[in-house]
Amino acid sequence: MTRDQIQKKVRELGARISTDYDGEEIVLICNLKGAFIFLADLCRYVTAPISMDFIAITSYKGTESSGDVRIIKDLKMDVSGKNLLIVEDIIDTGLTVDYLINYLKLHNPRSIKVCTLLDKRCMRKIDVAIDYMGFEVGDKFLIGYGLDYNERYREMDSIAELIVERDKGDKQ
Ligand code: IMP
Ligand code: MG
Repeated sequence: MTRDQIQKKVRELGARISTDYDGEEIVLICNLKGAFIFLADLCRYVTAPISMDFIAITSYKGTESSGDVRIIKDLKMDVSGKNLLIVEDIIDTGLTVDYLINYLKLHNPRSIKVCTLLDKRCMRKIDVAIDYMGFEVGDKFLIGYGLDYNERYREMDSIAELIVERDKGDKQ
């Protein structure tokens, strides 16, 4: 996905969110680190009053989801009674966002919705209702626009597939 395709999509998502919430206040919950660039662009296309908070949940090591989900940085705001919109870079197995939804429910928010730029639907292990989605993608490992491979490539303004070269000595 090129920079222009991404920006066009983010603008569309921002417009839809603005219409749907109709001036109601939203708290954007950014799941670090992958979603930080998407959040930075998205928040500038949302016209409803917003505040933001950050949480860090991890389930990922290398290119494979470990299925082991943990909170490594908690929310700072009191989100009870608020309209929460989870902002994700990519939903893969769904384990991370499912965990996050259940965690946020414990804080008694008014509502919880999910916005993800990318949806790797074919890899889902747990069913998750997604309210706003940018692009559906296949079983590929993607980098750029916040998405990393071992912490690299987040700064790219486009999204690309990472092709891991096989070990040159491996002839089998
Ligand atoms: P899930 O719990 O399997 O849905 O994993 C979601 C998280 O895995 C995302 O927030 C990303 O951080 C990471 N992830 C999943 N697929 C990719 C990918 O293709 N590239 C980079 N990170 C990914
Ligand atoms: Mg992530």
